Amino acid sequence: MSSHREFSCPSRREFLRAASLGCLGALFAGLGAGLAGCDTVEERTSDSESGITIEGNTIRLDLTKPDARPLAVAGGFLFIRQARTIALNLDGSRIRAFTSVCPHAGCDVSQFQGGQLICPCHGSRFNTSGQVLQGPAAQPLREYGVSRSGDLVTIRLS
Ligand code: FES
Repeated sequence: MSSHREFSCPSRREFLRAASLGCLGALFAGLGAGLAGCDTVEERTSDSESGITIEGNTIRLDLTKPDARPLAVAGGFLFIRQARTIALNLDGSRIRAFTSVCPHAGCDVSQFQGGQLICPCHGSRFNTSGQVLQGPAAQPLREYGVSRSGDLVTIRLS
């Protein structure tokens, strides 16, 4: 009987999911406390199974699916790296979306803590309307149009 185990390379999805399990574990263990301690929730794939689909200038989110689920609750935050877009759930029902491109020097505004959107490069902070709270950024984040029908959210990148 052989004692070795066969190794197969993980898919990109498996790898990225494993890399983020600590963060997501906290999220799903207790959404309120999890969100407070988990300031960056990244989109990892772009397919209907994950709940995030990017087609042209449109992002579609299915909040019942794993990768979009963090946005289903009040205070929820999603950083969709592939589309350089961030989305917030303000109060359980209202969702806003913005470009993640920081107007200061183009880093991604990828963190959400204490009700503020934060650019990790030089510390610019924005409120949930995308307005500058703290520089060096001098311009607000560009907002995208969002429509919602139940658990399905559409973001128009224009
Ligand atoms: Fe965001 Fe400088 S690029 S603060």
